Amino acid sequence: MRSRAETLYRDVLRFADGSTKGLLQILVASAQKSTYQRIVSCPTYPVPANSAGLHLAVDQFLEMIHSSGVHVPTLLARIFLSVRQLKERKRTGTFFTAASVAEWALAKGLLTSSDDVCDAGAGTGVFADAILRNGQPIRSYVGVENDPVLALCAAHALEALNAPECYRLWYANFLLLGKTDFTARGLAVPTAVIANPPFVRSRNLTGRARIRAALKSSLGVTVPSLAGSGSYFISRAADLAGAPKSAEGRPKGKLLFFLPKEAAGAAHVQRLLDDLRRTHGWTSQQFAIPNKQTGVDRHASNALALFFLFEQTASATAPRPRESVPRACLQDVVHVKRGISTGFNEFFVLTDEEVRRRKILKKRLCKVLPTRISIKTKQFSEADWDQLRLSNHPCWLLALPKGEIEDFEPAIQEYLKEGLRRGVHETPTAKTYRAWFSIPVPSSTPDVFVTYLFRGVPRFILNDAGVLNLTNILGGRFVSAVPEAKRRELIVDSLNAQAKHWTKAGRQYKGGLMKIEPKELCRLPIDSSLLKLFDWKKPKAVPRSLFD
Ligand SMILES: C[S@@+](CC[C@H](N)C(=O)[O-])C[C@H]1O[C@@H](n2cnc3c(N)ncnc32)[C@H](O)[C@@H]1O
Repeated sequence: MRSRAETLYRDVLRFADGSTKGLLQILVASAQKSTYQRIVSCPTYPVPANSAGLHLAVDQFLEMIHSSGVHVPTLLARIFLSVRQLKERKRTGTFFTAASVAEWALAKGLLTSSDDVCDAGAGTGVFADAILRNGQPIRSYVGVENDPVLALCAAHALEALNAPECYRLWYANFLLLGKTDFTARGLAVPTAVIANPPFVRSRNLTGRARIRAALKSSLGVTVPSLAGSGSYFISRAADLAGAPKSAEGRPKGKLLFFLPKEAAGAAHVQRLLDDLRRTHGWTSQQFAIPNKQTGVDRHASNALALFFLFEQTASATAPRPRESVPRACLQDVVHVKRGISTGFNEFFVLTDEEVRRRKILKKRLCKVLPTRISIKTKQFSEADWDQLRLSNHPCWLLALPKGEIEDFEPAIQEYLKEGLRRGVHETPTAKTYRAWFSIPVPSSTPDVFVTYLFRGVPRFILNDAGVLNLTNILGGRFVSAVPEAKRRELIVDSLNAQAKHWTKAGRQYKGGLMKIEPKELCRLPIDSSLLKLFDWKKPKAVPRSLFD
């Protein structure tokens, strides 16, 4: 960076003073009408307060981004890094590609003048800059970005680069975009998607069930449950850039993805790549990135190692082989697991009367569904559990932390000593635990119970009582939170309707009794309409009170 630009950069940093609010004041106050016109679905940015020094900061900012010899996306990324905490950036996977890496990839000449390029998670527009620098004409560019501050940074970058008008930004969640969303906004459906996708663990991915369901129905590919956001980006990109059947004259679909080594080596990523190849003809080549530590802030979280080029080969337009189109199955909506194994229920699961007599404190106990009961209804309520408890069923699970017996209160000490006399510590299950009396208890209770032993077909029962389960019954947790009682009920009704088709599921025992293991249960087919019950709308993301 030239020294004048460096001085201006420092002045801008000083004004922003480490706050998003400060940076946004400058970005908004220095934006022209044409800057906003670059942004499709432009969010409503707050009006900047007329604070001291803003005019000067705006002049400095504009002079800085228009200085010759500066790399605008990198400058904007560095300023953005100064206002966004690392913790927050890790949560959203926001790291920036170094100019040299973007240029290295684009110089491979992969894009053509007939390509409509989508930059998924555009950040500050480093790939738009590299395409322009590379001098390869393309038909259009749209950078999709779901952070409103970055969307505006990238729009400034396009303006400063004097990018053609067909270079646009779109403030949107890339993972929720389908081809018709592009056409509805007058944008070309992409033929090529480029991305350094955010790497966010699947459990932190907002609206995961909805995204998975949408991908399954449009692409026919199930994103593996352990997959992080990178796999979702690849799948969404493959869906968008994949050729429709009547695609004569259209350039081959291409995906240009930057991935860290670990992500590329993960078994679930390999599985996804296999699925994309088999079902849609996407073949991939890997290139090692010459300079491994690539991020603008050189943070290890952005240590990209591989550049993947996916191309859709001719076989892509062939009809999908039927068996390779995965159908929705139970594990897409419910994760089913065995219940808690105590190895000695008579000792660990107590009745109300025993709890009272032995003076065991409530903090040492968890509510549990007793064994040897039959539940006829589709819901198990707190009142049902109370009734069982009052009729002296063992409803309390002894849940003790690890530690020395002597560290517990006298009542527990006495009970554990009795356990030793009864040989509870010698059961095979007890031997698998670090402390024989400390049974691992899950942090959440299941949403549903599923009959482990049954006649006919398995049955789902809503766990309205919020109790844990033992090994006599399976526990299922919904893939995403379903707080509304009505929707929970609909889901259970729908699951039971699906189960009616599972007549061949499970293993038969004497007398027609059936048993089903969680693994088999998880693979049973469900109708994709069930996925929609998990497809709830979250309120639209708006910039969080950026100016207050
Ligand atoms: C690893 S950064 C890469 C930024 C830029 N492409 C680069 O290479 O410098 C990922 C970007 O994706 C954006 N992002 C994350 N999730 C997104 C989503 N669901 N839709 C659109 N953008 C998203 C982040 O805000 C961030 O700017």
